Amino acid sequence: MFDPEAFITAALQHLKTQVTGRAVIAVSGGVDSTVAATLGAQALGKKLVAVHVDTGYMRKHESQRVRDLFRDIPLKYVGVDAATDFYTALTGVTNPEQKRKIIGEHFIRIFEQVARKENATFLIQGTIAPDWIESGGDLRDVIKSHHNVGGLPDHMELTLVEPLRDLYKDEVRKVARALHLSIAERQPFPGPGLAIRIMGEATPERTELVRDACSIVEEEIEKAAQMGVLELPWQYFAVLLPLKTVGVHGDLRAYGYTVAVRAVQSLDAMTAQYSRIPHEILERISTRITNEHDAINRVVFDITDKPPGTVEWE
Ligand code: XMP
Repeated sequence: MFDPEAFITAALQHLKTQVTGRAVIAVSGGVDSTVAATLGAQALGKKLVAVHVDTGYMRKHESQRVRDLFRDIPLKYVGVDAATDFYTALTGVTNPEQKRKIIGEHFIRIFEQVARKENATFLIQGTIAPDWIESGGDLRDVIKSHHNVGGLPDHMELTLVEPLRDLYKDEVRKVARALHLSIAERQPFPGPGLAIRIMGEATPERTELVRDACSIVEEEIEKAAQMGVLELPWQYFAVLLPLKTVGVHGDLRAYGYTVAVRAVQSLDAMTAQYSRIPHEILERISTRITNEHDAINRVVFDITDKPPGTVEWE
């Protein structure tokens, strides 16, 4: 039986002995990195610098939300707006593994720059067990390179510290609750962000479309859950397909993008079942997405479990 209090005591002790200099931590606003940063702040205090990189592939208003979240945690906070860099680096890139590698590498380079400025020699990350297991671990096939694992360059200036490495998501949430963090129940969001929810090239224009579509899916599903119409899924979002299909807007022929809505139940992300979302909610999502974006004229719902699918489409 997992005991979050015992884990916290051991993790703090471990961080204090392992991290002998100043450290940087990547914070995305998600449960994993926030838990790792909170433990880091408790163990290291001002020796820890939290770095939030706005890659341009964040959810709507996410970077501001992260800033607000970290106002209450006693560490140094640095925000980096790198959207233009990331958009440029991903120009013409369509291969999912290549996207992940490029994003991971850019992330690390930015951290290294901040770390150099801050005289830090350690990098703390919120990597959890499924991240490295699915990135191949020592023995397994690479399903996908999670950007905080497989995306790491071979030569890194910083010593990597991963306090949550052995935990599964439900255990991280237990630790988050024990630490009284407001984000304990937040749905996961992948490190490479919206870039892997855009099939094909992740251009700024396509990013705006998927950002809005994700926000609509979140709003409608959370509203329905609050009204007791459905149990909040474990994860729920939109994916933009590069495929265009014919439709009608008023009397005019339209030729627009397709959005897929994905919602799953899971315990640890290793397996997942698609959520049975009531049709009225799907209909509202579809109507809002196509009304608010002329460039999208078709919405489909993904009814694939994991396996054979994965949660994200890339
Ligand atoms: P998949 O798509 O592998 O996703 O079934 C399992 C869970 O992991 C999240 N995910 C990631 N998280 N870096 C992360 O931190 C990544 O590169 C990454 N890729 C997928 C995904 O959102 C789901 O919760």
